[in-house]
Parts: sequence; C-alpha cells; structure tokens
Amino acid sequence: MENDDKAPPKIVFSSEMAAKYSSLIRSSIPGYDDMHQMAASIIRRRVPEDARVLVVGAGAGQELLCLKRSGPSLRVTGVDPSADMLGVAQTRLAEQGFKADLHAGPLSTLGETAPFDAATAILVMHFVEGMDEKLSFLREIAGRLKPNGVYLHVELCLETDFQDDWNRFQLDKGRGEEELREHNVRRANSVFPVSPETAEGLFADAGFTRAATFFKAFNFHGWIMERKP
Ligand SMILES: C[S@@+](CC[C@H](N)C(=O)[O-])C[C@H]1O[C@@H](n2cnc3c(N)ncnc32)[C@H](O)[C@@H]1O
Repeated sequence: MENDDKAPPKIVFSSEMAAKYSSLIRSSIPGYDDMHQMAASIIRRRVPEDARVLVVGAGAGQELLCLKRSGPSLRVTGVDPSADMLGVAQTRLAEQGFKADLHAGPLSTLGETAPFDAATAILVMHFVEGMDEKLSFLREIAGRLKPNGVYLHVELCLETDFQDDWNRFQLDKGRGEEELREHNVRRANSVFPVSPETAEGLFADAGFTRAATFFKAFNFHGWIMERKP
C-alpha cells in the first residue's frame, strides 16, 4: 500500500521498502547485525535445543536467520503485517536451507499456538501508536509465552537528542542526503517513541519482570526480560 496524496508521508513496509530494507537498515541502525546476533545468542543459551520461538515484526527475516543459524533445531514462527517483508524473509531463509512458520498479519490473527519458550519484537513497538495499543501489543506477546519465557525487545526511545549525530552516522554509512531528509520526514510521522522508563513500566504492566538492558546505541534500547511465572 502506498501513501495517498493527501496523507502525511509515512514509512510503509511495501514491496518497494522490502526490496531495499536489508541495505537501508544497516546504514540506519548502529550495530544492527551484532544486536541481532546478541538477541539470538541470548535466546539460544536460555532455551532447549528444539524450543519454540515467536518473532513479532519479523520483517525481512534477520531474527529468523540468526536464530536458525544459532540453533538449527529451534522451531521459529515469524509474524508480520507486511506480506511483502515476509516474502523477503522467506527467500532469505530458503537460500540458506532454513524453514520457519510465517504468518502475514498482526499477532492477534495468528491462530492458537502452544506457548512459546521465547519471543522477540525487535524495532517494532515504536511503530505502535498510543499507550493502550502498546500495552495490548506487549500483553499479546506475554500471553503467547510460557511462564518465565524469555522476551527480547528493541525499540527507538525518546531520550537524549542524538538526531544530528544519528544523521551524520547515516551519511557516513553511505545514505544520500536527500533520501535521508525524506526518510526523516516519513519517520517523524510513523514512530511514537516513549522514554525507557515508560517502556519499562509498560513491560511490568504487561506481565514481564526482570527487564535488563542488553543493547544501547544512540536512542535504540534493547531489553531482555521474562514473562512473570
Ligand atoms: C523496522 S522493521 C523491523 C524488522 C525486523 N524485526 C528487523 O529487526 O529487521 C519493523 C517491522 O515491524 C512490522 N510491524 C509494524 N507494526 C507491527 C505490529 N503492530 N505488529 C507486528 N509487526 C509490526 C513492520 O511491518 C516491519 O516489518
């Protein structure tokens, strides 16, 4: 779906975005590959070899690939409202001989599942507008996990003003000035960040405990936590 003429320009996870996502994201998020490897390694060390892992907002498949490389027997389910993004994930998995269950749609539309041992939502919740909606997003994930199940969450937070430094980083990583300027306009209309303290309050309200930071780059925060027993 493309933006219509009158609507403010937004980030849309369309086929056009899906085609360029993998290169775009690496010039945008500092430490993107290592952050994903850390998330997969953290999960792999904490769950049985054939554990079931839910990846919310699986996008172009980076979590799915990192998890399967770290633990080929892990049973991984990827969920994303964008079928175009999941199409890229499917291709990347197939190229490396991996399989995952993929579901195009919000998590609420995934049929009944056995409880998962672990879940992730990486670079997703800042796209969810509204505090009630963020809480529902987190509660749905908590509801799919086993008691004490592991949850890895990364999002853009409202914190230090690093915008100019982040712009410089992205230019230095090869993004064009005009493309970055246009993307920043879209981003401002598309993301709804909260402070790290507010996010931690939401985690607790949604039924998670023991939230600890595992990643931080500019205002991107990553936490590991557990579903309450
Ligand atoms: C920035 S991408 C992140 C993709 C992947 N997790 C990564 O780290 O590369 C955000 C993804 O979240 C998806 N998304 C947006 N809102 C969502 C929601 N409410 N539930 C699940 N996924 C959502 C988008 O379709 C998109 O694929």
